[in-house]
Amino acid sequence: MLLLGLKYALLLAITGCFLVPIHGSGSDTDQVLPHRIYRLLDRLSGGGRLSASSTFALLLSQFLIKQKLRYVAPTRYERQLYYHLLHRMEHIRRGSGLVSREHGVQGEILSIAFQANVLLLPPSLKLGELNANGEYEQLAEVYPKVVNEGQLNRTQSDLCLRDIVELKPPHCKLLSGECLELLASDAPAYGYQRTHQVLLLYVLEHQACAPHLSPPQVYELLAKSQCDEVEREQNAIRSLGLPVVYRDLYLEQATICGLFGYNEFVNWRNVMEIGSWLEGDSPKDMDVLADDGDSQHISDLALVFYTNALLLLH
Ligand SMILES: *[C@@H]1O[C@H](CO)[C@@H](O)[C@H](O)[C@H]1NC(C)=O
Repeated sequence: MLLLGLKYALLLAITGCFLVPIHGSGSDTDQVLPHRIYRLLDRLSGGGRLSASSTFALLLSQFLIKQKLRYVAPTRYERQLYYHLLHRMEHIRRGSGLVSREHGVQGEILSIAFQANVLLLPPSLKLGELNANGEYEQLAEVYPKVVNEGQLNRTQSDLCLRDIVELKPPHCKLLSGECLELLASDAPAYGYQRTHQVLLLYVLEHQACAPHLSPPQVYELLAKSQCDEVEREQNAIRSLGLPVVYRDLYLEQATICGLFGYNEFVNWRNVMEIGSWLEGDSPKDMDVLADDGDSQHISDLALVFYTNALLLLH
């Protein structure tokens, strides 16, 4: 613990000059998340066109901050930090050129997601609501085999997400019924197929049309039953020793179920774990990683994970 504290104190001392001046903030641990978020933003602002995944991560992070500001009065320190983050994120997105609908399905999604017809809901950390006793040892044995099973694959997920973000009140007509059926299905799904379902559920719950389609409790019940399954998968992955090949998936699971506020996913243990993968702690390591699409995806997820953790854990 002492070593860890020392490491962060040093990090903050070295890189403190890149941070906004912060007045009235508390201990050093208060700075861990802002510091990591700024590092990820620095990386994204390096110029060049943003990937679809980076753009989505920025849009979602901005949405989370605005939603928090709408429901919880910030302290002076928080207000300064949140508005500064929003400003940076907006600046990075605009600097990369805004995405247009001409860029295929992903362009259609990114030109509207979290920007129109959104429904803000009060954010909250949910303690111990998930099933802590899900069987995971047998799942761990077969995990490499089942991890690719189930719906929705990437193509289905993009099409469904496009349909969801394009819903418009007052008609709220969903183009294909298949999309909703897949979200509510209790057919087995694992890995990214499952996380796609949970992400779509989150986006749908925060769509202006959500109350027309189902009562709010339905979204929460579905989220709970899906994240119960995801927790089982995370326990299986942990029991395998959290191998490097599953890091991206593990972070995607933690990020997306963390959006619903479950503390089994959004907690300091995960913040520290993920930090240890990402931050080789020297700019050189970051450059090596920057060539790698997978590492960009991990950074995009981390941006959302840290932003959500900043809003829920402080
Ligand atoms: C995704 O799933 C659909 C429906 O099962 C299938 O038709 C399609 O080929 C799949 N796409 C990929 C890329 O696997």
